[in-house]
Amino acid sequence: MNVKLSASMLASDLSAIADEIKRCDDAGIEWLHIDVMDGVFVDNITYGNNVVAAIRNKSDIFFDTHLMVTDPTRLIPLFAKAGSDMLTIHLESNGNTAENLKAIRENGMKSGLAVKPGTPVEEVYPYLPLCDMVLVMTVEPGYGGQGFIPYCADKVKVLRDYCDKNGITMDIQVDGGINSDTAAIVKDAGANVLVAGTYLFKAKDMREAAELIR
Ligand code: DX5
Ligand code: ZN
Repeated sequence: MNVKLSASMLASDLSAIADEIKRCDDAGIEWLHIDVMDGVFVDNITYGNNVVAAIRNKSDIFFDTHLMVTDPTRLIPLFAKAGSDMLTIHLESNGNTAENLKAIRENGMKSGLAVKPGTPVEEVYPYLPLCDMVLVMTVEPGYGGQGFIPYCADKVKVLRDYCDKNGITMDIQVDGGINSDTAAIVKDAGANVLVAGTYLFKAKDMREAAELIR
């Protein structure tokens, strides 16, 4: 399977974000993963639509926006306007998940649906026709630099098997604790979009780190 990498900006030097995005481009990384945290759904607060808009003209890289917020509904048009290419919402967030996924597409973005480690992956099945991607979290959302949770790879496998059986071709993303070792496990389970923050941004050579994940 063709693997795409999504570099999580959370681990970057945010004071020099334009240079950091350029490093991703130069390293041949396909997507930039933008973790939006509201301080309610998770403990941290990060950045929002204004930051997305500010960095949009720095690069054509695909903006993969991961919303860790309690109420995503009213934010959908704001992130579309800011320049997000994909918007991933959590199944555990408030609001009508199906309506939110439809609204994401209607706003011209790709739609993603994320599940936390404790949420059974089967719960996404009813929404798959509305999803371009499912994100199976491999850590508890909220912080970068955590250790990969092994049982989450089993969820990826269950989902990929279900998709294959039902003729669904879809991106399956994993996020949290991805490095050259854990990448092998999740790829084997059927993930094809790998988010990595710490491993890519803290590497001496980002291109080499990216190749090791691939
Ligand atoms: C966690 C975030 C992740 C995180 C990944 O809530 O969703 O995207 O930045 O960081 P690493 O790769 O360092 O685990
Ligand atoms: Zn994320």
